[in-house]
Amino acid sequence: MADLLDTSRSSCRLLVTGGAGFIGSNFVHYWCDRYPDDRVVVLDALTYAGNRRNLEDLEGQDNFRFVQGDICDRSLIDQLLREENINTIAHFAAESHVDRSILGPAAFVQTNVVGTFTLLEAFRQHWEATGRLDSYCFLHVSTDEVYGSLGLTDPAFTETTPYAPNSPYSASKAGSDHLVRAYYHTYGLPTILTNCSNNYGPYQFPEKLIPLMCINSLIGKQLPVYGDGQNIRDWLYVGDHCSALDVVIHHAKPGETYNVGGNNEVNNIDLVNMLCQLMDELASDLPVHPCHQLITFVKDRPGHDRRYAINATKIKTQLGWMPKVTVKEGLRQTVEWYLTHRDWWEPLLSKEYQAYYRQVYVS
Ligand code: NAD
Ligand code: DAU
Repeated sequence: MADLLDTSRSSCRLLVTGGAGFIGSNFVHYWCDRYPDDRVVVLDALTYAGNRRNLEDLEGQDNFRFVQGDICDRSLIDQLLREENINTIAHFAAESHVDRSILGPAAFVQTNVVGTFTLLEAFRQHWEATGRLDSYCFLHVSTDEVYGSLGLTDPAFTETTPYAPNSPYSASKAGSDHLVRAYYHTYGLPTILTNCSNNYGPYQFPEKLIPLMCINSLIGKQLPVYGDGQNIRDWLYVGDHCSALDVVIHHAKPGETYNVGGNNEVNNIDLVNMLCQLMDELASDLPVHPCHQLITFVKDRPGHDRRYAINATKIKTQLGWMPKVTVKEGLRQTVEWYLTHRDWWEPLLSKEYQAYYRQVYVS
């Protein structure tokens, strides 16, 4: 491994956008446990995907502050950067679900493109006003979906794979990635970009594959598998993702890009069968047992990417990071979490969620 760069980012005053969402809230917990002396300010609009309960155990702690607000609100961002003397932004806030981007792309362009632009521009002016210090950092958390779709035998995505986004979601993330890159090249703003694969773990909203399958098994609803179920994803346990972002924030050079993957490629139908076996083993009162009987093949997602796979050699060789959690271990931990947190997910099956569900799965 190459010597780690000392970026002098030893003490962070962090603004975490989207910190009440799935990955953001796992990251905030990770950071507050590991770096209790750092200041952590969460900015989150609390859309349907944001949940203040995800952070309730941190409320009232001296080094933690929650602010409800929109990343497109320039004056709010200017105020927060100034009054909290922020030197690091970890930018998670986004519209994140592909199916919703097909139903309504406008919010994706607004938050993912305009919101990222607004943050970059505010952070640039803040950084310039405070002397263009090297210790500043804008971490943009992005996705492997910007690279498009792979065939079965294609080599995995590297950091130099050309962008070829296929959904409104991935196109909006690609747009934001290009802005981040441009701010480094044009203004020298110390940005870092990460593109990671499918995360899973605690606090993931029920619309995503793994929590949807866990929750539908528990309430005896069909387990909808799109198309032929042969689409492949690489599964990254959210705790591993957080540790990757930790090394990146502390040691990556400005302007760098890293792919982050779980080294766990699985096709959807195998993954759903693994989940069903875990549910049968761990849940005591399933309405339908064995729960694979609930598996239903449904119409495919329009433009459904066939395969994603990550080559994470760069982050391993340059920064010494590798994922630790296998999909077998991570799925067990995740199923156990959903089984013991019914009070967390039950309120999320709201009228809005049911309306969304009918649009995707029934119409
Ligand atoms: P999520 O949908 O669970 O959370 C998004 C959060 O952003 C929510 O708390 C929401 O309230 C907030 N938000 C949305 N619009 C906002 C706005 N305009 N202003 C302020 N806050 C706003 O998403 P996630 O799965 O945690 O993903 C986090 C980031 O990681 C996203 O940028 C996503 O593109 C990226 N990513 C996710 C995955 C994955 O598998 N989940 C994989 C790769 C990359
Ligand atoms: O690859 C990273 C991306 O992973 C992130 O950028 C996105 O924010 C995140 O949502 C995720 O996107 P996917 O579209 O891959 O995740 P999703 O959980 O929606 O679907 C995973 C796979 O499962 C995909 O092939 C579609 C399929 N699927 C999904 C759902 C919700 C089903 O077969 N049935 C379902 O009900």
